[in-house]
Amino acid sequence: MGDAKQRRGAARKAKARDAQAAPPVRQAQVPAPAGLRKVARDLTALTLLIAVPYAVYSAYLWVHLESGWLRPPVGHGESRQLLIVGSQSSGTVQTSASLATLGFEVAHEASDASTTFCRDGTVSWFHGIRFLPGIAPDESVELICARSLRNMGFHPAGFRRSTSCSYRRTWDACWARECGEIIRSEWGCAITEGRACDTPFAKTLLQARHPLRTMESLVVKFCRNETAPVSHALALFAAALWPAHAWAADSCLPVVGWYVTLYYEAMMAAVDARKIDGVYKAEAVGVCDVARMGGFGSAAYPPARQLYAEVCASPGGGQGLADGARNARNHGRVRIDMENLTAIDRELATRVLALGARMGYDVP
Ligand SMILES: *[C@@H]1O[C@H](CO)[C@@H](O)[C@H](O)[C@H]1NC(C)=O
Ligand SMILES: *[C@@H]1O[C@H](CO)[C@@H](O)[C@H](O)[C@H]1NC(C)=O
Repeated sequence: MGDAKQRRGAARKAKARDAQAAPPVRQAQVPAPAGLRKVARDLTALTLLIAVPYAVYSAYLWVHLESGWLRPPVGHGESRQLLIVGSQSSGTVQTSASLATLGFEVAHEASDASTTFCRDGTVSWFHGIRFLPGIAPDESVELICARSLRNMGFHPAGFRRSTSCSYRRTWDACWARECGEIIRSEWGCAITEGRACDTPFAKTLLQARHPLRTMESLVVKFCRNETAPVSHALALFAAALWPAHAWAADSCLPVVGWYVTLYYEAMMAAVDARKIDGVYKAEAVGVCDVARMGGFGSAAYPPARQLYAEVCASPGGGQGLADGARNARNHGRVRIDMENLTAIDRELATRVLALGARMGYDVP
């Protein structure tokens, strides 16, 4: 009796041990070696870990952006209310965040409304290429499209939904092709007579910031210090967008200085040609001023009009744009004045003075 009990106990323990050591294998299957099983298990877990959130996220985007249940979808060629352009480090991140905080569906850099929440508008430095003169030079397309430059704010997926490229890959020949098509169709599309941009906006504004302060922020962002080389990515974009300029290889201050100058000169030319509807100083306006200039008071999408009326009804409603972001990066570490520019490049100094005056800044 005692024996039988012991045997049963031992058998149970052994069974439990077996169960722990190896999960039951279906009879028809040939048991795989333990190592392979582990790999298979890990792979399944990994796939689920990636695939499930991806599917959930895709479903979330579809419900919000494409189903039409919550808000009508906006196709690639359909008009949105507002595009704001302004150089990198002019505070565009803060502007899009401020508009989004008010409740407008505004994104930073992206304008594909099927994958990004940007049905009211986009704030972007790179969308400024629609105001560059002429057509995209082949060398420029090659430079920009050779690799992913997403950390610079540009990826073809930000501009339109790709039907052929894989969204699980950052870059490949397919994205490079897509990139070329987008650069060619966007470059100059808003300023060249007889052309139209694929993605129209009811209003376009230019965000200005004091040119020297913008340069200081760029130095902090793209150069290790004032004498170190500038980041390859900024040098690449500068050379691609203004190929006629004799770029000083990779020295920090000349590249940063000319990038800001050439960018704003091109945008101010578009303001003069009335292709950009207005220009404001980031330091001097509130987010509701931007919304008003951006025409949200008479937006085509009624809920956007209503939102504007509700949140920006009182004069000076909404916080100042620069409140949250002033010198967020620089913290006074880098200081650039006119002497610095004159010392490296007299022509640059002259152009910055003229540009500052045109944008309404006291330079120096
Ligand atoms: C600037 O950076 C370069 C290279 O990164 C370094 O050699 C140099 O010492 C730095 N200069 C200063 C003033 O920190
Ligand atoms: C500008 O010049 C001042 C004084 O010569 C110097 O201290 C500063 O580092 C310079 N700034 C840059 C960005 O080169």
